[in-house]
Amino acid sequence: MIKILKSYSVLSSTVANIIKRQLKKHPLSKLGLPTGDTPLGMYSELVKEELDWSHAITFNLDVYLMNVDHPESYQSYMRKNLFDRTNIYPDHTHFPFRPTSAFEDKITESMGIDLCILGIGTNGHIAFNEPGTSFKSRTRVVDLSEQTIQDNSRFFGSVDDTPKQAITMGLGTIMESKKIILIANGDHKLNILNVAMNGEVTEDVPASILQTHNNVEVYYCD
Ligand code: GLP
Repeated sequence: MIKILKSYSVLSSTVANIIKRQLKKHPLSKLGLPTGDTPLGMYSELVKEELDWSHAITFNLDVYLMNVDHPESYQSYMRKNLFDRTNIYPDHTHFPFRPTSAFEDKITESMGIDLCILGIGTNGHIAFNEPGTSFKSRTRVVDLSEQTIQDNSRFFGSVDDTPKQAITMGLGTIMESKKIILIANGDHKLNILNVAMNGEVTEDVPASILQTHNNVEVYYCD
């Protein structure tokens, strides 16, 4: 199930090419998009080519509960790495918001996500669905685990300055995507990726739910 690629640049261009093909074939595609370090190469590949994003609609997986204008907010990340560098319409870009049921309604009204790209946390989380999350969960406000706060403190300089809460798509929401691609990079992700993709399907390892989806691809490089 896990496809091992020889470098980060091959991983980035492989996934960017899948998104390019999707947008060229289906310009009205709805994409589920991740943040974090792993997708940075994919985004820089995507903006190298003039691709028509004018009909695309995006749904980000998650946001911190914080000032959206902070440089480390996921809204700032997406503007900097993708949105400001394409012709996508700002009002076609969606981030989880409250009331969370209204965000779910937006996905439903748009007929669902066609292609969802995911990263994975070192504890097996996808989006901000931490270990123990119900497989049926929907978009909601969550408390981040100690592990995730620790991992993400590298972006904020200290654990104290790292947001402790987020709004995330639920596992049930993500699983309704027609196609899902999970990307992971680095030795520190290999063990959890293996547990998630080849181990028991359990709520203790949120990403393990992907084993039950009928259209998932997983790409890894060390
Ligand atoms: C954060 C995000 C996840 C992401 C994960 C891994 O917690 N909420 O969506 O997949 O980090 O990020 P990175 O690629 O930086 O390791």
